[in-house]
Amino acid sequence: MIKIAPSILSANFSRLADEIKDVERGGADYIHVDVMDGHFVPNITIGPLVVEAIRPITTLPLDVHLMIEDPDQYIPLFAKAGADIISVHVEACTHLHRTIHHIKDLGIKAGVVLNPGTPVSFIETVIEDVDLVLLMTVNPGFGGQAFIPSVLKKIKEVSELANNRNLHIDIEVDGGVNEETARACVAAGANVLVAGSAIYNEKDRQQAIAQLRG
Ligand code: DX5
Ligand code: ZN
Repeated sequence: MIKIAPSILSANFSRLADEIKDVERGGADYIHVDVMDGHFVPNITIGPLVVEAIRPITTLPLDVHLMIEDPDQYIPLFAKAGADIISVHVEACTHLHRTIHHIKDLGIKAGVVLNPGTPVSFIETVIEDVDLVLLMTVNPGFGGQAFIPSVLKKIKEVSELANNRNLHIDIEVDGGVNEETARACVAAGANVLVAGSAIYNEKDRQQAIAQLRG
C-alpha cells in the first residue's frame, strides 16, 4: 500500500489551511512539513508555531522533516506542537542513536534521513530503532528540483536491509517525485512518496495524488 505525503513547502502559505484541507480531501495519507534553519540547508521555512497552527486543521499524521542543525534542542517543541513523525538527518546528528530515542521517548514515531551523497551503511546500526527511513532524492533545501536517479540503488539497499532483518518500516522518498519517478521508487521498494510541486502545482490535487499512487 503506497502512502502519499504532500509537502506543504509548495503550497500557497497565505492559504495554508485550505491547501492542507484540499490534499486531505484529495486522499493524502500524511502531511509532510519541511523545517529548514538556514544552516543545515540554505533556506529558512517554518517552525513549531506553524506546526501548532496546522495541527487542528487536519486529522492526518504530521510528518515533520527536520533539516536543521542540533535537532535535539527542537524535538520537544515539535512534539508539543503536534508532530506525529519526526525525522532527523544522520548528517546533522552527532549522537544519532540518542536522538532517535529522544524522539521515541516523547511517544512519537522516529525517522532517519539520508542525503543523496550519504551511504546506506550510515543507518545499519540504527535501522532496528526507527519507524521510517527517508531517502532524499534531491539535495535538501528547495522544492521543485530534479530527481537524482542514483538514489534508486539506495532505496533497494534499504529495502533489502529491512527484509533481511524482518523489519516492517516505512521507506520514504523525498524530492523530484512525479508520476514517472514515483514508479521507479516504488519498484525499488519505497512505500511513502513525498511530493511538493507534483501535487501543489496542479489544480486538481485529488487527480495528482491518484496519479502518484499509480
Ligand atoms: C526538499 C524538501 C522536500 C520538497 C519536495 O528539501 O525536503 O520535501 O518540498 O518538493 P518537490 O516534490 O517539489 O521536489
Ligand atoms: Zn521533506
